[in-house]
Order: sequence, then structure tokens, then C-alpha cells
Amino acid sequence: MTMTRRTFLAAGLGLAAAGRAGGAGGEGPLPMATRPIPRSGERLPVIGLGTWRTFDVGPDEAERAPRREVLRRFLAGGGRAIDSSPMYGAAEEVVGDLLAGLPPDLRSRAFLATKVWTSGRAAGEAQMAESLRKLRAPRVDLMQVHNLLDWREHLATLRAWKAQGRIRYAGVTHYAAGALDELEAVVRREGIDFVQLPYSAARREAEARLLPAAAETGTAVLVMRPFEEGDLFRAVRGRPLPAWAGELGASTWSEVFLKFILGHPAVTAVIPATANPEHVLENLRAGRGPLPDAALRRRMARELRF
Ligand SMILES: NC(=O)c1ccc[n+]([C@@H]2O[C@H](COP(=O)([O-])OP(=O)(O)OC[C@H]3O[C@@H](n4cnc5c(N)ncnc54)[C@H](OP(=O)(O)O)[C@@H]3O)[C@@H](O)[C@H]2O)c1
Repeated sequence: MTMTRRTFLAAGLGLAAAGRAGGAGGEGPLPMATRPIPRSGERLPVIGLGTWRTFDVGPDEAERAPRREVLRRFLAGGGRAIDSSPMYGAAEEVVGDLLAGLPPDLRSRAFLATKVWTSGRAAGEAQMAESLRKLRAPRVDLMQVHNLLDWREHLATLRAWKAQGRIRYAGVTHYAAGALDELEAVVRREGIDFVQLPYSAARREAEARLLPAAAETGTAVLVMRPFEEGDLFRAVRGRPLPAWAGELGASTWSEVFLKFILGHPAVTAVIPATANPEHVLENLRAGRGPLPDAALRRRMARELRF
């Protein structure tokens, strides 16, 4: 593949062999890029999967079948991080049920992330225990304090649960631009493992202080809402891909949006949500091949102004 000065190979970020099982697994000529979780050095594939709204469905097989295929393709195509929350209706239970039906070699790839979203220590512990039950997991990889709700209380519990091996990493999240200062303060003072934040070509507030704070403190970053809940696709409907998309090896807008985010060096992984098995393949493709450098990212931001 030809590189230009404005792009760099994902290889520079370190590549790990990604799963190649499954026919329609999103396999490409290159494996998915991975980035280290700074506190442990464990490498995480850069494309994850959100579950808000998309996995909040009932027991009906007609609704579950496409979600099962999304999970199968995601894991077979090299993805690992699956993000949920007790706030997302049935999503945790649906993820737990559907993973249980996948072959063990795929199921075991999942890096399960969920959240605690309540007030008070006892309520938090009860809710987290319920999440483990719904996810059918003896432990989750990452437990995050959702929207910073009662975060001081919950971080104390998360540290204890981590010591007991019931979670592997602790983090905090918030979706609102107005909460980024508080997220930054927690990142700087609390030594958490992960912060989950909103960031996209159309929403760049995190670039000012929070992303640099994460990089300086060795905090892993999960990026939520990469498509602005789908608004970005609506904004470019009918618009041809820009010429520079070719330099990135991107053949869809989804890859352009995700590669913009992954071009930021502080980002560990991005968690786009989809219930569509074709879309998950597109999204996985963004984790392969070149990413934009700073100059191309500036141009992307100018041209992707919505
Ligand atoms: N939204 C929040 O406030 C919030 C807060 C905290 C955490 N999070 C976490 O971040 C995750 C991601 O954010 P999000 O779910 O709000 O929004 P998002 O990932 O920015 O956008 C999801 C939307 O994009 C569409 N989509 C996905 N891939 C596509 C593709 N390749 N082509 C066209 N359309 C595509 C999906 O529809 P299809 O199903 O049709 O593909 C869905 O409507 C959440 O699921 C959750 O885990 C979100």
C-alpha cells in the first residue's frame, strides 16, 4: 500500500494478530491495530462495540439474530471491547445471552466493559453484581462510573473489587461537554485506568485538556459516540468521499469518521454502536491500514465541519 507524508501505517502503533475465524468476519489483508492499556501494557484492538439502544431488545429471535451476527463478526474480525451499562435497558442481558451462544474461542475474546449508575455504596455493589449476572461473567474487564454519578463512593468500591479480582480495570465516563473539566480532574488525581469520553470530527472539546491529561497520566481512553449517534452519516448523505479518503484506504464514511478519532495518539479504542451486521464490518475496517497524521486531521476537521 502506498503511503504519503500525510498518513502513517497503523503498524507504527503496533499490530497484533487478530482472529481470522469466521467467513464474514471482516478479515482484511491487515490485522486490526491494537494499542496498549498504559497501566498494564495489555493491548486492546482499536475498534470496540457500543450497545446503547442497539442491544436494548427483547427475547424475540427476529430481533436477536442480527445482534448475534454483529457480535460474531465483531469478535471474529478482531474486535474485543464491548461497552454496556445498566442504563441501557436490556443491553447487558442481551450481550450476555448472545455471547453464551457463540463458540468458546470467540466468546473468550470479549473484553467486557460496563458501568455502575446509581448512588450509594450498597446500591452500587448490588448493581455491579447484577451486571455480572446478566453478562454471565465471573468478572468484567472494565467497570466504569457512569456519568460520574457518586464517583467518589464508587471508585472506593472499584479499587476493592479490583484487588479481589472481580474487575480488571476501573474507569469513569461522561457524555457532556460541560463535564469534561470534572473528568479531567478525576483523571489527574485518582489514578484510574480508563476514561470514556465523547470525541468526533464534529465534537473536539476533549482535544483541549482531557485527551492531553489522559496521555500525561497514562490513562486509557475509550471514545463514545463516534458518529454522534448517527448524525454524522445524516450530515454527509449524498456527499461523495473526499479525495484524501483514498490515502487512508477508506471506502466508506464510517472509516473516515473512525480514522479521524484513531488518529489522535491519546485514544486507545473507539466504541461505535450498531445493530447491523454489514455496518460492523465497515467499522472494523477502520482499524486497519493507514491513519491520518496531525496535518491531515486538521484538514479533515475543516472539511468535515458539520
Ligand atoms: N450516547 C451517549 O450519550 C453515550 C453515553 C455514554 C456511553 N456511550 C457508549 O458509546 C457507544 C457509542 O455511542 P452511540 O451509540 O451513542 O452512538 P454512535 O456509535 O455514535 O452511533 C450509533 C449510530 O450509528 C449507526 N451506525 C453505526 N455504524 C454505522 C455504519 N457503518 N454506517 C452507517 N450507520 C452506522 C447506528 O445505526 P445501525 O444500528 O443502523 O448501524 C446507530 O444509529 C454507546 O453505544 C455506548 O456504549 C454513549
